[in-house]
Amino acid sequence: MSSDRRRKRSRIDEPVGARVRNYSLGWGDTPSSVAPYVPTPMRVVRRMLELAGAGADDVVYDLGCGDGRILFTAVEEFDVKKAVGYDLNPSLCESVQRRVDSKGLRGRIEVFNENFFLADLSQATLVTLYLTTSGNSKLRPKFEKELQDGARVVSHDFPIHGWTTMKAGSPDHFIVGSHRIYLYRVPEAQLTERPIPRSPEEESRWRRIREVFLRFDSGC
Ligand SMILES: C[S@@+](CC[C@H](N)C(=O)[O-])C[C@H]1O[C@@H](n2cnc3c(N)ncnc32)[C@H](O)[C@@H]1O
Repeated sequence: MSSDRRRKRSRIDEPVGARVRNYSLGWGDTPSSVAPYVPTPMRVVRRMLELAGAGADDVVYDLGCGDGRILFTAVEEFDVKKAVGYDLNPSLCESVQRRVDSKGLRGRIEVFNENFFLADLSQATLVTLYLTTSGNSKLRPKFEKELQDGARVVSHDFPIHGWTTMKAGSPDHFIVGSHRIYLYRVPEAQLTERPIPRSPEEESRWRRIREVFLRFDSGC
């Protein structure tokens, strides 16, 4: 790579005060990078979209879209209304854009060579992630602020700590070979206490206990 090319600045935006230094990006090359580039296997991509119920009413956001495989699969196989991708890596974004153009998918797929922490997620009905647990934790407050009720978040391999998945029971994730898929729905995911299914006997015992506590609480 020539030194000119190495010096070239991308359009990537950074948190205030930070500037992008490298053209070729890996994990940790910029302060805002929360994951290296590792593509999700196609069978896992399809299962993620299937489990999340991706369909014609969805606007999918892939945060850290890599080579765009989730975007293309969502549009071409699940017929979602629109798919939007963000990635810090300019080469990956350029190649996604070339593919979008060659397939005539402008308007259905948009890719931004930008930091997804600065994206507006208010239009997203389905967010896909393959980042890291710490990356997901950093995104959680943004999800809680910006995502509309009913939006789903599906994450490959890494959970969102502090959120409750839609899959009741243990394990709380879906399994595809050695891969895990965590599925969440806003706002229910934010409720820390999920009702635990109980047998009728347990339920009546719990009702009695609750009554005792309530009586105690009201001074009876
Ligand atoms: C593990 S790859 C996932 C690629 C794709 N979503 C998939 O599942 O195949 C993670 C991607 O996130 C990108 N990334 C990491 N932090 C980012 C940030 N703050 N903004 C935009 N992209 C980011 C990386 O450049 C990398 O391409």
